[in-house]
Amino acid sequence: MVVDMPRGGFYVTLRCNLRCKLCAAHAPYYKKPWHPTIEELCTQVDRFFELVTHIGHFSLTGGEPLLHQDVDILVRHIKQYSSQIGVLELFTNGTIMPKDSVIDAFGEYDGAVKFCIDHYGPDLSVNAERLADRIKRELPDAVVELRDYYTQNMHCDGWVDWGIGQVQERTDEEAQEIFNKCSLPQKLDFVSCVNNGVIYPCPQTRRCIELGYIPFDPKEAVDMFDRSYSDLEIQQRINERYTLTILRACKFCNGQCDDSKRYPPAEQL
Ligand SMILES: C[S@@+](CC[C@H](N)C(=O)[O-])C[C@H]1O[C@@H](n2cnc3c(N)ncnc32)[C@H](O)[C@@H]1O
Repeated sequence: MVVDMPRGGFYVTLRCNLRCKLCAAHAPYYKKPWHPTIEELCTQVDRFFELVTHIGHFSLTGGEPLLHQDVDILVRHIKQYSSQIGVLELFTNGTIMPKDSVIDAFGEYDGAVKFCIDHYGPDLSVNAERLADRIKRELPDAVVELRDYYTQNMHCDGWVDWGIGQVQERTDEEAQEIFNKCSLPQKLDFVSCVNNGVIYPCPQTRRCIELGYIPFDPKEAVDMFDRSYSDLEIQQRINERYTLTILRACKFCNGQCDDSKRYPPAEQL
């Protein structure tokens, strides 16, 4: 069965060196953030590309992915799947200047590469500009997007407050209203999030399940390693998620809507 995913964020680690209050991945709220071994990451990648025929944007994210000591090995491992990937992306907070072998690994990758360097201001993203310059110099074929998250003209007008943990359970009608105007399902093809063997339809579904607000519903969250289903069934469920017209998490989430209040990005706890 053909499984063609428009995009997906692949969590490399939930460790982060920033403590952003409104973090979409809730990274600063873990006492012991998830930090897998390279073997675990590679196993997930292998299984993902066994099931998924093609993904438009395969984004390494987190947490701060450059905090993973083996991100270079991961990129080299992903290379064997480059024909199944439209663009291999890396999201980073611009704090870390990666070691040479990370840049080299992206240089060896034989498909399209994009670096999304989120610039949270000169006090936080101390290496954002230097990293952007270095990639432009050393990897001239890579696309570099240095995203302004600190001036008046900031990307997306700033961050949103997802509200997980504060929003009281919404009625079905209210949840439907959120789903109908949230840009994740409506404009961004759901922004699937791959974490620890599970493909979630959005990052907030992952968090709501983790906190016990909603159950693990196999129609929404697909466990790639659940061997009680055949590969065909798992693939069917990945495809069917794109036809969902509501997500359970919408009862507990504010969404990222055009009319959502915007907040200064990366405000530190
Ligand atoms: C959770 S971060 C992880 C990757 C990396 N640490 C970074 O900061 O780019 C992934 C993306 O989510 C965005 N993001 C995080 N929290 C957000 C929020 N509350 N509203 C909107 N975007 C958010 C970040 O700006 C970044 O582009």
